[in-house]
Amino acid sequence: MKVLIRLIVAFFVFLVDVVYGNRSYPRFYMLETIARVPYFSYLSVLHLYETLGYWRKADLLKLHFAETWNELHHLLIMESLGGDRLWIDRFIAQHVAFAYYWVVVPLYMLFPSYAYYLMELIEGHAYHTYDEYLKTYEAQLKAQPAPQVAINFYRDGDLYMFDEVQTALSHEFRRPKVDNLYDVFANIRDDEDEHVKTMVALQKPEARLTFKSPHTVFEAIAANADKTG
Ligand SMILES: [Fe+2]
Ligand SMILES: [Fe+2]
Repeated sequence: MKVLIRLIVAFFVFLVDVVYGNRSYPRFYMLETIARVPYFSYLSVLHLYETLGYWRKADLLKLHFAETWNELHHLLIMESLGGDRLWIDRFIAQHVAFAYYWVVVPLYMLFPSYAYYLMELIEGHAYHTYDEYLKTYEAQLKAQPAPQVAINFYRDGDLYMFDEVQTALSHEFRRPKVDNLYDVFANIRDDEDEHVKTMVALQKPEARLTFKSPHTVFEAIAANADKTG
């Protein structure tokens, strides 16, 4: 099974780093189109289990939907920067994504921990891709404005869905800056880090049964405080 996982990751890294290595926005468009697909596969399988009356875990459905929502906004940001302008880039991204969906569905049905491990590696790759980009282009990025879609997603809009992916939360939800394009890419990078942490947490034994979404945890803390206070 690990061989299959490594093959998928190697193909992904080849496409994103080698084929698209020197065209940043199409590269990130490709990365965001493909990298979010497994969340949709997880959701489909969980939904099917619910429909068949086999298994229900609402917190997992909510979490994975919030993760696809998060990745959708990364994708919208890349599109607003022109990453999807060329027909050939859209064609490749969409077809790879279609095939990828059908690979991850049976993988998640048979080996959910491996399906999460695969995503841990892909999300880790995304984190490092953005981290390097930030280091290389810091000055240029700081001189450019943040796209409106990013301002809404990270600051001005309804932040419920943004908060829902913060597995690593301690006492407060993240409230990042969105003053320029550098901040936007730093926020995307930090989101990818949250995704890695979530995928690691979900590989622990029993994690799929015990996992609680951040809002469920917060509600429980607030209810407890009401009782004791
Ligand atoms: Fe992303
Ligand atoms: Fe991600």
